[in-house]
Amino acid sequence: MVSAKMEQALNKQLNAEMYSGYLYLAMSAYFEDTDLSGFANWMRVQAQEELSHGMKFYDYIVQRGARVSLSEIEKPQSQWDSPVDVFEHVLSHEKVVSGLINDLVDLAIEEKDHSTNNFLQWFVAEQVEEEESASDALSKVKLASKASNGLFLVDSDFGSRVYTPDTADK
Ligand code: FEO
Repeated sequence: MVSAKMEQALNKQLNAEMYSGYLYLAMSAYFEDTDLSGFANWMRVQAQEELSHGMKFYDYIVQRGARVSLSEIEKPQSQWDSPVDVFEHVLSHEKVVSGLINDLVDLAIEEKDHSTNNFLQWFVAEQVEEEESASDALSKVKLASKASNGLFLVDSDFGSRVYTPDTADK
C-alpha cells in the first residue's frame, strides 16, 4: 500500500508524463509543418518515451493496490520561433521534470516508503539521460543553425532515431 498523499503524488506525476508526451507531440507537429521530418521523428520518439513513462506510473499505482486517477492533460504550446527555441524548451522542460521526480523521492523518504523510493530510482537515472540527450541535441541544433546546410544534416541524423520499448522492467 501507498499513503493517500503518495497515491495523489504518483497520479500527478502520471499526468505530468502524459503532458510531456503531449508537449513533444506538439513539437513533432510543429516540425512536420516546417518540413523538417527528421526533427519531427525525433520528437515523435520522445513523445512515445514519455507515454511509456506515464504507463510505468500507471502500472506501479495499480501494483500497489492504489487507485489510478486520470485528470485533464494541459494543452501544450504549439508554436516556437526556431528549432533552437524548441530544443531550449526541451532542455528546460526536462529540468522541470527532474525537479518533480526529486520532489517525489523526497516525499517517499519522508514517508519511509522504500518501495516507492526504489521504483523512483529508475526515473532518477532516466532524468540524467534525458537532460544529457536534450543538451546534446540543443548543441547540435545550435551549431547546425550557423551553417548553410546544417539543419538539413541534423534533420537526416534525427530521422534515424527509433523508439525502443524498455523491456527490462515495466
Ligand atoms: Fe519522462 Fe522526459 O521525462
